[in-house]
Amino acid sequence: MTESPTPIHDTVREHYAERIKSSASCCGDRCCSTDSRLYPVDLLATVPADVSNTSYGCGDPITLASLQPGETVLDLGSGAGLDCLLAAQKVGETGRVIGVDMTPEMIDRARANAKRVNATNVEFRQGYLENLPVDNSTIDVIISNCVINLSPDKEKVFAEAFRALKPGGKLAVSDIVTDGELPEVVRKSLAAWAGCVAGAVEAKQYIAMMEEVGFTDISIKPVFFDKETVDDALNEMKLDAVEYPREAVYKAVYSAKITAYKPK
Ligand SMILES: C[S@@+](CC[C@H](N)C(=O)[O-])C[C@H]1O[C@@H](n2cnc3c(N)ncnc32)[C@H](O)[C@@H]1O
Repeated sequence: MTESPTPIHDTVREHYAERIKSSASCCGDRCCSTDSRLYPVDLLATVPADVSNTSYGCGDPITLASLQPGETVLDLGSGAGLDCLLAAQKVGETGRVIGVDMTPEMIDRARANAKRVNATNVEFRQGYLENLPVDNSTIDVIISNCVINLSPDKEKVFAEAFRALKPGGKLAVSDIVTDGELPEVVRKSLAAWAGCVAGAVEAKQYIAMMEEVGFTDISIKPVFFDKETVDDALNEMKLDAVEYPREAVYKAVYSAKITAYKPK
């Protein structure tokens, strides 16, 4: 664990501990994992519904990663473990999956979910993305689903991901990024940070941070949300008492498929 988690870490951890205790999805019913706009239906059908429903992601890093048998996979912010369990099926008995998350309640649920589906090639480690509990150059593919936007120190997260990857290794991430300014009241809200909006950065800044630590062949492809999905997320952040231009949020925030490589 990092020596000094910030107030943002504390807010985010408390938020997701609450979410998993109440088993609600992070941005309303519309963007939970059972929504086939995120994952192909046949992929989700490989796990029980009570496992696929404990998902808080904004995309499908499994399909993006094109995982192969025998690979070692690391999931940054593994939550209740859905992506780790799907990845475990793809890499098979000769592969291995490690999920890292700072929230103890998420780690507990992820371990219970792994037991429920008899996954033996998956383990969950409690820790921070900014100080990954993973050895240097040991990972073939890093996946992550709607998490890096939550970190107050994204440069450190990318540096840690780069350190953990083997030369030639791949990063395949679904995350929230922005194009344009968010209203100030949203940007300054800790609730909006925990809801995956306020911590999101411009796509070009995201790319620059990855380049800075050494990633190459970086690609960011947008997957735009419909207005109702963003509305659900905003309603859950309970910012309604304050006036702010929702249109600006609809325009600025989007989910993206991001890939990058550590050079050989
Ligand atoms: C939006 S949820 C996504 C969970 C999972 N990836 C999924 O798709 O269901 C974010 C998760 O990231 C974890 N998280 C956020 N910031 C983190 C950090 N800096 N270090 C470790 N875990 C973090 C939270 O505890 C939470 O479980």
